[in-house]
Amino acid sequence: MTVRVGINGYGTIGKRVADAVSKMPDMELVGVAKITPDYGALIARSKGYRLYTLSDRLDLFRKKGIEVDGTIEDLLSEIDVIIDTTPGGYGLRYKGLYRKYSVKMIFQGGEKPEVADISFNTLCNYRDAIGRESVRVVSCNTTGLLRLICTLNSYYPIERVRAIIIRRAADPKEIKRGPVNAIVPNPISIPSHHGIDVKTVLPWLDIITSAVIVPTTLMHVHIVNIWFKEKINIEYIIEALEHNERIALIDSRVTGIKSTAEIVEVARDLGRYRYDVPELIVWKDSLYVNGRELMLIQAVHQESIVVPENIDAIRALMRIVDDPMESFKLTNKVLGIKGRLI
Ligand SMILES: NC(=O)c1ccc[n+]([C@@H]2O[C@H](COP(=O)([O-])OP(=O)(O)OC[C@H]3O[C@@H](n4cnc5c(N)ncnc54)[C@H](OP(=O)(O)O)[C@@H]3O)[C@@H](O)[C@H]2O)c1
Repeated sequence: MTVRVGINGYGTIGKRVADAVSKMPDMELVGVAKITPDYGALIARSKGYRLYTLSDRLDLFRKKGIEVDGTIEDLLSEIDVIIDTTPGGYGLRYKGLYRKYSVKMIFQGGEKPEVADISFNTLCNYRDAIGRESVRVVSCNTTGLLRLICTLNSYYPIERVRAIIIRRAADPKEIKRGPVNAIVPNPISIPSHHGIDVKTVLPWLDIITSAVIVPTTLMHVHIVNIWFKEKINIEYIIEALEHNERIALIDSRVTGIKSTAEIVEVARDLGRYRYDVPELIVWKDSLYVNGRELMLIQAVHQESIVVPENIDAIRALMRIVDDPMESFKLTNKVLGIKGRLI
């Protein structure tokens, strides 16, 4: 079965998910929708993607000489699944239209959890998403936390998690966001929404997070403290992390990679497309184990970490793969995700 997929919103996440869908053997990218006739539209066309927009925007594209294949309604009439990658809050506004065309819906982390039947992470709750009408792929920070938590929880049951989120201020393309010269608690009150968002997937988990925004665009960093129900062994923790292809352990003592800047430099030098790092990066030499307690430092490439989860969500909604690991492995193979940075 080939699933016909449309993407509404061709920005940071939408363009990456579009490229990923177009590579999958069991999916067809029917087209992408956006509202501004700009360089993004020209790039979509240059890749051979069919381009759609709102009916009242068609003229704007035509005036700029950018060919459009139709309206969002035309796109919806040709697909099985819509991936909504519009800015947070817009997905809910589109939901009625998507429903009218009886398409399955995938929303992103900027939407409120209530937008979809369930919040989704492949390793935590793939089976719960099978055959649903809609899912919400949680945000980049939440995806990073969930990948770690569900991986470790399958080795040792977790009692509680406390995490500090050091957030990038903006994506590299954004020119209107900050801060430029400040560290901003986000919010000052604790907990931040990140732990609450983790609980939309793992309601049983005792987790509290706090966050600050810093003036950087490359990646987020998390300092994570986990208490397990039993005494843990560091070798077993390392084995769990090494076993997950969507987690890349790096050792700064061996590689010299001590910052997000150097992670991105490696990705650039390796010729990774857009320097994307969809793997969760965990510093092996940050691991601190004492009895039941673990602390570590991890980095999240916000622009690309949710891409593989969006692909798995399509297979779950469309019931084309029942086994989470089968989808997980196929997505990783096609996207070249191998559990290591270098
Ligand atoms: N960026 C991240 O780090 C990140 C990480 C994980 C999850 N997310 C989530 O992913 C979602 C998308 O974020 P993003 O960063 O990709 O946003 P973005 O870069 O601003 O892209 C949004 C896209 O949606 C289009 N758009 C805006 N209004 C629209 C409308 N009414 N109808 C159709 N398309 C519309 C924009 O079109 P034009 O370009 O034509 O104006 C743009 O292509 C959000 O929920 C966000 O929270 C973002």
